[in-house]
This record gives sequence, structure tokens and C-alpha cells, in this order.
Amino acid sequence: MNYQWYPGHMTKAKRMMQENIGLIDLVIELVDARIPLSSRNPDIDELGKNKARLILLNKSDLADAGANKLWMEYFKGKGFHVLEINAKSGQGLKSIQGVVREACKEKIERDRKRGIKNRPIRAIVVGIPNVGKSTFINSFAGKACTKTGNKPGVTKGKQWIRMNRELELLDTPGILWPKFESDEVGRNLALIGSMNDEILQMTELAADLIGYLLKYYREELAARYQMEDLDDMATPLKVLTHICENRKCYKKGQEADYEKASSILMDDFRSGRIGRITLEFPEREE
Ligand code: G4P
Repeated sequence: MNYQWYPGHMTKAKRMMQENIGLIDLVIELVDARIPLSSRNPDIDELGKNKARLILLNKSDLADAGANKLWMEYFKGKGFHVLEINAKSGQGLKSIQGVVREACKEKIERDRKRGIKNRPIRAIVVGIPNVGKSTFINSFAGKACTKTGNKPGVTKGKQWIRMNRELELLDTPGILWPKFESDEVGRNLALIGSMNDEILQMTELAADLIGYLLKYYREELAARYQMEDLDDMATPLKVLTHICENRKCYKKGQEADYEKASSILMDDFRSGRIGRITLEFPEREE
């Protein structure tokens, strides 16, 4: 399958970030906990060099709890500050303030030495589309915070959200597009639903997912679709045929409707109904 994104938007988003990066102390990068590497954009390391860095493993509620722990260690090992969060429910958000302070301690110390008091840390939230930036900003900022006016040197129209005395967020999230370095990255993004499904072949995607689940999440798959004899479910086609029967997906004349079964499977997976599933693991990295 050929995975496509929309490169037209890319330059605009990058320019917005380049224009503002000078004002930023901290880059808060959201990644999808189910695919923490495939949902990153390598440009961010270039854009955010010399800045404090915080990675948020978002949608951690949909990802494998054990894998979340492994990814936390992985990113810590690479020198990032890292937290797992659920931007939708607000879980994990309380820990952010403390970690932000820790990540920016050099800046705080520098300010202190120069006699600058109470200059808030300024942060930008970045991530690829659909990773949860808007949800995060809304939940994190809540209703209590106030928008401050334009600041000198800030592009006109840009707003800062004052979280508290210590932290301000640029309220326009930085949108970065993922890099399609490999088919696997494209496939992972397609599986979590970060691409326009209309241009994807659902049955092919579903077959890929089944292949993966048979290998790493057999029990979850079997439980969801009442598959009693797993040994008989050796191939994605057999599983998809079983889902057709289990969910009564038939076209006219009792012909199996694989498209419909594929949609059901993809929908179940994306909303976490099959279980908490992670699609890439640090130790499986090449
Ligand atoms: P973006 O700004 O980065 O493009 O992403 P956005 O906040 O719009 O979030 C994209 C989708 O991901 C939304 O779902 C949002 O609710 C969901 N989401 C964000 N964070 C989390 C999380 O931690 N856990 C889970 N399970 N979902 C999360 P949607 O289907 O577009 O909207 P809705 O049906 O939730 O209203």
C-alpha cells in the first residue's frame, strides 16, 4: 500500500514554529503511546535543539501498560523528560508542573543569577495531527487560566495561555507531519487512524493488524471475537472470515463482507475495545 500525507501544509507549520522558537524555553512533544517512534517527526530535534524537552506519551489509556513503562525508560535513556498521560481524561496531567520545573532548572537558575524574578517558563506544544494537542491544551489549561495579550516580539495574533505564575503555553500548537521513512511508519500511522481512511484499503490494513495481533495479542483478539479454536485461526484471512460470521457481515447471497468486517475490526482496535495494544516496542527497534 502507498501511504500519503499532505506535504503542502508542512512548510507553513514549520515556519510558524521557526518564527517562535526563539521565545521558547521548553518544547512539549506529544507522541502516540501506541506508536511512540512512528508518531514523531525528526525535524523536532533540529527545531528544539538547546531547548528543554518533554515528551508526553499521550493516549496511554489505549496502549499496553507494560509497553508504556518500556517507552518511558527508552526516552529517559535518550535524555528526555517523559510522562505518560491521557489528555482526554486528564490522567497524568498533575505531574507535569513538577517535571517542567525539573526540565527547565537551568533556565530558572540562569534567571536567578541574573536577578530576573518570576519570568514564566514559555512552552510550545508540538506533535503530528490527531495526536491530541488540542485536547491536551484544553484539559491542561482548563477553564481557569487567562489568555495574556500579545507580547513584544511575538508574531501578531499569537496568544499565550498563562497556566500559572510559572508557565505559559503558546496556544497555537505546532503541527508537524510525520516522516515516512519506511512503509512500517506509514502502516502504523494508518492503523491508529491518523490518515484519511478513504484512500486506504481497509481489508489490507485489517489483514496487517490481524497478523500483528496473532503474533503479540492473541488472547485479546480471541476474546473480542469469541474465537474458541485459536489453532484454527492461523491466517488473517481465516480470522477475518471468522469475524464476518461472528458479526454477521454478509453481502447479498451470504457472501462474506470482508470490508465490513475490516471496518468493525479497525474501529474496535482504535477505540481500545480489543484491549490496550501497542504497535511498536523499543526492543524490537532495528
Ligand atoms: P490534534 O489537536 O493533535 O489534532 O488532536 P485532537 O486533540 O483533536 O485529538 C484527536 C482525537 O484523539 C480526538 O478524538 C481526541 O478526543 C482523542 N484523544 C486525545 N487524547 C486522547 C487520550 O489521551 N486518550 C484517548 N483515548 N483519546 C484521546 P476524536 O475522535 O476526534 O474526538 P472525540 O470523539 O473524542 O470527541
